[in-house]
Amino acid sequence: MSSNARIKVEKEFRVGEVDPRLYGSFIEHLGRAVYGGIYEPGHPSADEEGFRTDVLELVRGLQVPIVRYPGGNFVSGFRWEDSVGPVAERKKRLELAWRTIEPNTFGLNEFMSWCKKANTTAMMAVNLGTRGPDEARDLVEYANHPSGSYLSDLRIQHGYREPHNIKTWCLGNEMDGPWQIGGKTAAEYGRVALETAKVMKWVDPTIELVACGSSGTFMPTYPEWEATVLDHTYEHVEYISLHRYYNNTKRDSASFLANSLDMDDFINTVIATCDYIKGKKRSKKTINLSFDEWNVWYHSNESDKKLEPWQIAPPQLEDVYNHQDALVVGCMLISMLKRADRVKMACMAQLVNVIAPIMTENGGRAWKQTIYYPYMHASVLGRGTVLQPLVSSPKYDCADFTDVPYVETVAVHNEEAGELTVFAVNRHLTDALPFDIDLRSFGSASLIEHILMECDDVYAANTAEQPDRVAPRNGAGTVASEGAVFTAQLPKASWNVLRFKV
Ligand code: AHR
Repeated sequence: MSSNARIKVEKEFRVGEVDPRLYGSFIEHLGRAVYGGIYEPGHPSADEEGFRTDVLELVRGLQVPIVRYPGGNFVSGFRWEDSVGPVAERKKRLELAWRTIEPNTFGLNEFMSWCKKANTTAMMAVNLGTRGPDEARDLVEYANHPSGSYLSDLRIQHGYREPHNIKTWCLGNEMDGPWQIGGKTAAEYGRVALETAKVMKWVDPTIELVACGSSGTFMPTYPEWEATVLDHTYEHVEYISLHRYYNNTKRDSASFLANSLDMDDFINTVIATCDYIKGKKRSKKTINLSFDEWNVWYHSNESDKKLEPWQIAPPQLEDVYNHQDALVVGCMLISMLKRADRVKMACMAQLVNVIAPIMTENGGRAWKQTIYYPYMHASVLGRGTVLQPLVSSPKYDCADFTDVPYVETVAVHNEEAGELTVFAVNRHLTDALPFDIDLRSFGSASLIEHILMECDDVYAANTAEQPDRVAPRNGAGTVASEGAVFTAQLPKASWNVLRFKV
């Protein structure tokens, strides 16, 4: 067998349409995500509402279609009423999930204004930790009911005449986790999620709901949790959530880079579980997946332990990402694209400062972390139809996985633009790999560009002082074509975006 990696793309064999919401993100009231991140009145770039315009510009560059809010673990102790109305009257609260003080000077209505400026929409989570159906249906009434009821009129009195029409709602957060405020067993959660779903939809039948799945493949209750929760909620929700973060605490790059194999298994297992319950219930409805927390997370673990509790917006979860973290993020995006038929929403966790592609200094600069780039490329260029690729690649074994393909890849066809984009990660840490791309099913094809991100040091990162230490460049010229068969050189440890006119 040749040592080249290969992808053969058949234009008629479709996996599914990419739902743009696959490129969502997440803002939690945690660390400096809100205060000092998206919102900092007094910052030189702040607009009249206190939103940082330097951050808004970087967010717009990612073309983020949906942003999950306000948590995360935070939501499980949150009283949404604290975050609306005159700012001077809002209550400061002890926030138990992250042991901080929440000033509530930024809340639901401010977030909805920010979404408009960021060209995005909201995915709102309700508190099913300390609260239940009553507060959830109140929040839907406040946010989405046009007028003529106490809570919709209260919103109007707060200065927001038009309803926010928030379409997508999460029924709590990570309710399987012992760390969660008000954590539950699958049966306890299934019952409360069902009853909450019913009343939320009675207030606004146009909304769609995400039930909590497992917090990760490491949870002892996975995937029985999904089966039990869906047994209760199947006909009342549209999505089940998945969360997963990977780390390189063992400094074993070969294993770290292979983690998307775990993500593939996770996605396929949850799909199988959804379909098992569908069969069990003889249902005609299909439940799709919302991978609404995913990323690399570990760099800040030790420094976070040293933070004093009960501060406002301390620097929590401020991972500084290196080059290989960006490769893992690229592989995770490819995993989700490969199942674009069922993974309809996903949120990179998170967006600014907190395990985020965008970093800021309070009162100062904002810059792009390494992980910004694969996320941006996928979001901007990975729209259209995922095609079923035939892939072959040389493989390796490592401590955590066997038969890991060196090249992880997927192809997205944008028929409207007449473009095909191939995303590819070369996991090989020491060797470049030749990569054949067979586009003969399209008749003819020509290369538009080969964007690549490589780095001599997989531990190199971007900082305020060196914001462009790791950045993509144009690698055009590395591709030779023979009819519609191309061969690209994928540098060692690299993220590649190959764009073709087809
Ligand atoms: O994204 C950070 C945290 O990770 C979220 O609050 C929680 O849902 C998850 O454990």
